[in-house]
Amino acid sequence: MSRRTLAFICQNCGAAAGRWQGKCEGCGEWNTLVEEGDSAGVAARPMGPGRPARKGRRFALEPLAGDTQQAPRLPSGLAELDRVTGGGLVRGSVLLMAGDPGIGKSTLLIQAAAALARTGHRAVYISGEEAVAQVRLRAERLGLSDAKVELAAETSVEDIVATLSEGKTPRLVIIDSIQTMWTDAIESAPGTVTQVRGSAQMLIRFAKRSGAAVILVGHVTKDGQIAGPRVVEHMVDAVLSFEGDGSHQFRILRAVKNRFGPTDEIGVFEMTGLGLREVANPSELFLSERDLGSPGAAVFAGIEGTRPLLVEIQALVAPTSLGTPRRAVVGWDQSRLSMVLAVLEAHCGVKLGGHDVYLNVAGGLRIMEPAADLAASAALVSSLAHAPLPADAVYFGEVSLSGAIRPVAQTAARLKEAKKLGFTRAIVPEAARGEVSDGLSLTPVAMLANLVADIAERGTKARRTGT
Ligand code: TYD
Ligand code: MG
Repeated sequence: MSRRTLAFICQNCGAAAGRWQGKCEGCGEWNTLVEEGDSAGVAARPMGPGRPARKGRRFALEPLAGDTQQAPRLPSGLAELDRVTGGGLVRGSVLLMAGDPGIGKSTLLIQAAAALARTGHRAVYISGEEAVAQVRLRAERLGLSDAKVELAAETSVEDIVATLSEGKTPRLVIIDSIQTMWTDAIESAPGTVTQVRGSAQMLIRFAKRSGAAVILVGHVTKDGQIAGPRVVEHMVDAVLSFEGDGSHQFRILRAVKNRFGPTDEIGVFEMTGLGLREVANPSELFLSERDLGSPGAAVFAGIEGTRPLLVEIQALVAPTSLGTPRRAVVGWDQSRLSMVLAVLEAHCGVKLGGHDVYLNVAGGLRIMEPAADLAASAALVSSLAHAPLPADAVYFGEVSLSGAIRPVAQTAARLKEAKKLGFTRAIVPEAARGEVSDGLSLTPVAMLANLVADIAERGTKARRTGT
């Protein structure tokens, strides 16, 4: 009776199909379907008539209120990592650390394991990618050799769980990476979606049972060739994304999902010759390479989670040689840029149809806040008018479609940070007039058109005085 059903699993999203197709119906990616033998528990386990029905077991239902303890947390020893997780590692939780290959995941985690081991807790680092000697070498270079981290180069999940279940339960287990793990229970090859999912499931079960905190490393690749950690995202308690670009030494750790804490905090690190250095005051770092006095740069006073963060927004507006002008943006939202450009055209008389527009957030940071609208607009107009903005001013405010500048949250914190870093002026929404400014001079702006007129006037003046 039981007919072997072959399953084709999309290596990008994990969707199963009964036959091979060029395009995955789940995610729309091409050439991602791979045959993974007998559909290993994904699509078609024989159900129905052939199988005896199991009698259900009764369980107790609990009230919503009750005295359950707060999730016990353990500070990892890296303050920036704790900030992002919401206060430290939670017992029995599983965390996915996702990021591009080479971004520094292994480095960060060996540092975290060492920091934890130094406080007297048991930390285990399992590498499926590097040999023990390689990990040792790196630890030596980072000056961590004295920490009592337990190392192994293993890829069999059964062996790992058996080893870790013996003796004192480790407080932290690092699995580097989940893509290299495999379990006997599943036939398909290591690295396939089914294996990744099956291995993750076993490690999650181990974490819940033993109370150890487990961190899974997952490589993200743009093409769907290697099974992405996407498929385990919904299984784990928290997903942290480690970001940065190759040309900068800054690395940003961001929570994408967090069952035990907020998702809006970021951790900032700097990649140095001695590993990742925590950056307690990121504003200083992001403003360290400012190009003072050149047009097209505005400092944005932003907020990331609970922490104010000052960053330079750079714009270049140049006449285009193409039929359709280019709009390129790094570190900000493309549609947000289109909106700001449309408002500049419609309400401020700034014609950009014949210009290429480039916008960049310095230092490789990615800004999500609409509060950056005003700073981006200022940078754009400054570039177009060849009028450098005052070097001692910060900008924040949301631009509405009507061209009005709308208020944003946490004005006081933004102003305080600007003051701390030596700025003397802030260009703010009208609603922030009268805000305690701590010696900072405030310039409230009601409409974007007012700001544009101001900057244009600066440009004219600068040209007249011949600079
Ligand atoms: P790694 O942690 O191996 O990345 P991942 O595990 O995410 O693939 O780090 C890789 C890069 O980090 C590598 O290109 C070299 C750089 N690096 C430093 O600049 N300084 C250091 O101290 C270390 C250990 C690595
Ligand atoms: Mg690595």
